[in-house]
Amino acid sequence: MTDGKYWNLIAAVHSATTPPSLFDLTDKVIVITGATGTLTGSAARYFAAQGARVVYLARNPEKLEAALADCRDEFPDAQCMGVVADVLDRPALEKARDAVLQKWGRIDGLLNGAGGNMAGATISPDKSFKDLDFDSLQQVVDLNFHGTVLPSLVFADALVEGGGSVVNFSSVSAPLAVTRVVGYSAAKSAVENFTRWLAVDMARKTEGKVRVNAVLPGFYIGEQNRHLLTNPDGSLTERGQLVVNNTPFGRFGQADELHGALHYLLADASKFVTGTILPVDGGFVAFSGV
Ligand SMILES: NC(=O)c1ccc[n+]([C@@H]2O[C@H](COP(=O)([O-])OP(=O)(O)OC[C@H]3O[C@@H](n4cnc5c(N)ncnc54)[C@H](O)[C@@H]3O)[C@@H](O)[C@H]2O)c1
Repeated sequence: MTDGKYWNLIAAVHSATTPPSLFDLTDKVIVITGATGTLTGSAARYFAAQGARVVYLARNPEKLEAALADCRDEFPDAQCMGVVADVLDRPALEKARDAVLQKWGRIDGLLNGAGGNMAGATISPDKSFKDLDFDSLQQVVDLNFHGTVLPSLVFADALVEGGGSVVNFSSVSAPLAVTRVVGYSAAKSAVENFTRWLAVDMARKTEGKVRVNAVLPGFYIGEQNRHLLTNPDGSLTERGQLVVNNTPFGRFGQADELHGALHYLLADASKFVTGTILPVDGGFVAFSGV
């Protein structure tokens, strides 16, 4: 037997006898909302590199095109598409879902990444609760909570159809009282509760075909919090130092340190896991601070 035939035979026997990897995401269709962000964008590029079909869902068409171009530059074989939608705009989400189904025929994963805080919904040290801007608080709850519920609702049928996994984004401010961020904390607490609620409902009504979990990132430097945690010269602000002191790892997270948890929750490796909130925080929520 020539060398080539021998190796082809070995490869054929290997693929016939090796069970598919629990972590295989090849050709899985994964929708990522707010996909032009720091953690979300990094996750989108990671899943593209894993051979998944990645749907960048974002509001701003220019940012979306730039993010897609970055991904294709880095991974020329990437299978990715962009859809423009605000996570609070139901018709736009429905249009986005239809475009994905038309192109790839199914949806296997939904990362509800769009989220964030707003200055008015925070109470700075020189202010008190009575200074809270209620409109801003409502907007933050809208974005983080309703912006998680609405895409889940719009994509639910497609996920049920072939089976799928939803991953939401919580925050350390859901289980713990983090100073200043009153609206964001309330919204992320609601996201955690919704994660458990939908996990149970989907498990019971879809015979476990759809799983719903959340990651709980600790502190990662992104565009939203950079100025709160670091000074222009890169040194830590007082708040940044407090965060580092209360993180047993003694540092902020790096966006790529979230990839493993997201991968696990989307893949068959977690096929009996639902309703969990997985901290990826260098130990922040485990630590009493003492
Ligand atoms: N970075 C952190 O340290 C951290 C920590 C805990 C939780 N989180 C959460 O993780 C998720 C991702 O964080 P990130 O750091 O990538 O945030 P990011 O701000 O970099 O990205 C969020 C993205 O959501 C988009 N977005 C905002 N409103 C939208 C809307 N209405 N419709 C569609 N898109 C919208 C933004 O344009 C942005 O691209 C967020 O839910 C965030 O709250 C982040």
